[in-house]
Amino acid sequence: MKFFVDTAEVDAIRELNDLGMVDGVTTNPSLIAKSGRDIKEVTAEICAMIPGRPVSAETVALDAEGMIAEGRELAKIADNIAIKVPLTWDGLKACKVLTGEGRMVNVTLCFSANQALLAAKAGATFISPFVGRLDDLNIDGMELIAEIRQIYDNYDFPTEILTASVRTANHMKEAALLGADVATAPPAVIKAMANHVLTDKGLDAFLKDWTKTGQKIL
Ligand code: E4P
Repeated sequence: MKFFVDTAEVDAIRELNDLGMVDGVTTNPSLIAKSGRDIKEVTAEICAMIPGRPVSAETVALDAEGMIAEGRELAKIADNIAIKVPLTWDGLKACKVLTGEGRMVNVTLCFSANQALLAAKAGATFISPFVGRLDDLNIDGMELIAEIRQIYDNYDFPTEILTASVRTANHMKEAALLGADVATAPPAVIKAMANHVLTDKGLDAFLKDWTKTGQKIL
């Protein structure tokens, strides 16, 4: 499963990229606002940091023409831009046009298997089902990932399932078990995957015993 980082914070992306953990980056208007930076400037910086790997930049127009124009503008930033459009009827129209031009398109704000089916039919490069926001409503977000996986496999759709709105390390595990192609997560969630209480406990015990030996390695 590919790891995308869901942030516009350049330093956090760099830290994970240095560990080889970054297969791509996703941003959205809220994340750009949180970064306090100019969308084109920060997106260009991210694209240059991870050449050849997709960086999603989101359109904000509500009509297809506006999304297409914004998408083309965002695509000028770098070759590795994936244009993000919302899963609306106009977003699907924009997806069809932009992918027809050979651009990567990430169809975002997906909350149902039918929406994902439409996105695949419209040629989406990525579909982004938001698992965390479904969980917030007491609807199992991971069930949606399983449904989309089955539908895409039934018909060999090449659209990649990009598990989004990931809130926990457990979401990452579940996405991988279900065969999601990608999961995008905030840096803190990716780091949290390394944590285990028994690792901490074991380390503590080893260090206590080591101190008793009075030895040094260096
Ligand atoms: C994905 O591309 C979105 O940017 C993101 O995963 C949304 O997550 P949230 O529901 O935590 O805002």
